[in-house]
Amino acid sequence: MKHLLSTRDLSAASALRLLDVAEEMSAVGEREIKKLPALRGRTVVNLFFEDSTRTRISFEAAAKRLSADVINFAVKGSSVSKGESLKDTAQTLEAMSADAVVIRHPASGAPARLAASDWIDAAVINAGDGTHEHPTQALLDAFTLRRHWARIGGTPSAGTTLAGMKVLIVGDVLHSRVARSNVWLLTTLGAEVLLAGPPTLLPVGIGSWPCTVFYDLDEAIAQRPDAVMMLRLQAERMNAAFFPSTREYSRRWGFDDGRLALLDIMGLDDTVIMHPGPMNRGLEISAAADSPRSTILAQVRNGVSVRMAALYLLLSGDPHDDEPRDDETH
Ligand code: CP
Repeated sequence: MKHLLSTRDLSAASALRLLDVAEEMSAVGEREIKKLPALRGRTVVNLFFEDSTRTRISFEAAAKRLSADVINFAVKGSSVSKGESLKDTAQTLEAMSADAVVIRHPASGAPARLAASDWIDAAVINAGDGTHEHPTQALLDAFTLRRHWARIGGTPSAGTTLAGMKVLIVGDVLHSRVARSNVWLLTTLGAEVLLAGPPTLLPVGIGSWPCTVFYDLDEAIAQRPDAVMMLRLQAERMNAAFFPSTREYSRRWGFDDGRLALLDIMGLDDTVIMHPGPMNRGLEISAAADSPRSTILAQVRNGVSVRMAALYLLLSGDPHDDEPRDDETH
């Protein structure tokens, strides 16, 4: 792999390799090992054209735990606000000898454009582009699910897939790069994916996605999912035409206290509740976020291990990387 741009192009072997390496990386920082020297002398640039808390900090922590130098580039306060183009910004980073560029951009396809260009030689990692993809979020979600699946089903081992697992993704799928990356990755790893949301917040063409779509959340919960992934309602990307009111949205699509209790009544003792963050508390999720079923903080924690694995495999060259490079396409 030279770049990590999407999960749609990621083969099962590449995804599992990344998750297995992330398991090995999870010992660093969390337990006895503080740092690895693996990327000493390498430079990772965080190039964020959109706001971020989890992803940016997580990539910074990951790079530092691998002993890389980190440059954080925020658009606010940079010459991008004076009109500097992506090309000129990228070439400036190239002149500073960046080995990896972690990019978040409001335009779908911006990371792929950068990777396909001759502006830089650096590895490009997509940290979220428009409504397109957020591959490391999906990988950390899969890592979290794989640990959960192993905990209830037996001992985790390298190469374990998510075969047999049923994951329900709920809410604003239309604007969600997290949902898209998860649909592709979870199905690649063998999970069954269910989607539920109001018709106005489901994309045109969803019928061709490899999942079952529900227009009623309780009907979807009745399918007995092993995990329920709530999506943030991206109010900043829509107007009132998309949903009647926040109260109505919360009642029909929020994972509220009643639905949390329903899982107990249904005997779904092992079903977990996920959210990529940031959350709209009281809208798409409420007490479930703080319940023992919540994996939300584990997802954040796991994100560092997954991003360490991504940086390590891209920058140090993976001896196992002998498959067709379908996941490097731009
Ligand atoms: N999940 C996620 O991408 O969060 P941030 O926007 O805080 O990075």
